[in-house]
Amino acid sequence: MTLAGTHIERQSFGATPEGKPAEIFTLSGEGGLTVRITNYAGAIVSILAPDRAGRKADVLLGFASLPDYVADDSYQGALIGRYGNRIAKGQFTLEGRTYTLARNNGENHLHGGPRGFHRAIWEPRVKEGAGGAALELTYVSQDGEEGYPGTLTARVVYSLEGAAGLRIDYTATTDKTTVVNLTNHAYFNLAGEGSGDVLGHEMQIEADQFTPVDKTLIPTGELRSVRGTPLDFSKPMPIGARISDPDEQIAIGAGYDHNFVLRGPTGTLRLAARVVEPKSGRVLEVLTTEPGIQFYSGNFLLGGPKGKAGKPYDRRTGFCLEAEHFPDSPNKTGFPPVVLKPGETYRQTTVYRFTTAP
Ligand code: GAL
Repeated sequence: MTLAGTHIERQSFGATPEGKPAEIFTLSGEGGLTVRITNYAGAIVSILAPDRAGRKADVLLGFASLPDYVADDSYQGALIGRYGNRIAKGQFTLEGRTYTLARNNGENHLHGGPRGFHRAIWEPRVKEGAGGAALELTYVSQDGEEGYPGTLTARVVYSLEGAAGLRIDYTATTDKTTVVNLTNHAYFNLAGEGSGDVLGHEMQIEADQFTPVDKTLIPTGELRSVRGTPLDFSKPMPIGARISDPDEQIAIGAGYDHNFVLRGPTGTLRLAARVVEPKSGRVLEVLTTEPGIQFYSGNFLLGGPKGKAGKPYDRRTGFCLEAEHFPDSPNKTGFPPVVLKPGETYRQTTVYRFTTAP
């Protein structure tokens, strides 16, 4: 349910180095959540959420100005496409043809390439509906862009939902067979961005299995039980409790950087993860239609532009829960498919819901 009171204000957010103007949109709803989003990268810029005493804090990592987003290479808050996460050696074969993509992460392709959707200015439209305002962002990715086949029209609608939910509805269509895997790369810190590391946050993930990775973070193809491993988040566990365990998968990721196989049917919006920050009582619930979620504990955050609180973000000062299809699916026949054909519509919905615990 979208609250009738949701309204959107728009302001200039400067211009990209190429001179393209960007805007920033403030969504506020009756549920008490205030969210700012820019159409550069379609990035979420801030989320103000109350703690158990009603005190608001910005629980999203991000930057105060557009040049900082342009300089950033950690994908803060950004929409990711055409393919979220890695494709092995930047190659895949579709309908008998091999496509070659940029190798921008060692020998692999990451997050759609250096000019992925996180570098685009999205076309914004404020939609007024019976349920209040929503922000629609459209990006048309050209045939051959970053090596991918087909003109892909991607559309993302951000809206406020329920008491305190940020809903993201993605759709995409193509004019040639292609692969698509869209997500959002928000980093959260429920104690407030810039307030320290996230190791005390208690994480619960609705998954019995994960996809183990090789040394370059490409899934081996196996679905492995989380039982008896530091990746068992079937019950709430502090992120930091086992992050230094002598475990091959933890060592490869330098912490958590793994795709979890979500329970329940793909295509149905269901709970994927629940995170509690015990001191503030803030709770984040992630619901998604996707088959997987990448839990990334911010292991590669180091320096970069100053965050909104005035200092660069250090290692593990934010975590990501990226709802998506499994990494390297174009090369893994056993994984849920990511192929989109002309005439079909790709759909994914993810909701970030903010509540509090006593
Ligand atoms: C994550 C990915 C990490 C890292 C990060 C960006 O989605 O899983 O390995 O690449 O993005 O720094």
